[in-house]
Amino acid sequence: MLDIFKYGDEVLREKTDRVEVFDDALALLVDAMFDTMIEADGVGLAAPQVGVSKRLFVVDTRSAGERIAFINPEIIETSDDSVPYEEGCLSVPGVYHDVMRPSHITIRAQDVRGKGFTLKAGGLLARVIQHENDHLDGRLFIDRLDDREREKVIAQYEKKEKGRRKKKKA
Ligand code: NI
Repeated sequence: MLDIFKYGDEVLREKTDRVEVFDDALALLVDAMFDTMIEADGVGLAAPQVGVSKRLFVVDTRSAGERIAFINPEIIETSDDSVPYEEGCLSVPGVYHDVMRPSHITIRAQDVRGKGFTLKAGGLLARVIQHENDHLDGRLFIDRLDDREREKVIAQYEKKEKGRRKKKKA
């Protein structure tokens, strides 16, 4: 299992580099990311969350055909609407908030062997893709909330983290 970096860790805010080499090391990283995500009960995980500042993320919505690795992804189309959906993040564990985003997207990316593909998505898959893609630009879901909402969610998170640290010591 890989360590998941948390809110406050600098790697989550860094600009990521394109993946240039599609080798066994990349395939192993992607496999480890899938395992780590499933273990943590997540539906998506981006490379910066495991300390790797590269443009890739994995998604598994637990629906058939929706276990996908996206390398060097680019969202090339978004629907004109903006819909709420409750999001959480393995890097900001324990807190959730509605975030407004387009309901449908089209994304272009490469697979783990470097082969290009294009995918149209709606529903949960579109939501997870947009959330993970944000991670590649150093952005977290809380950045998309207004100031008051964000402060509230961060305060909630910090309170929970304090509780977790106390428990570990006891
Ligand atoms: Ni996240």
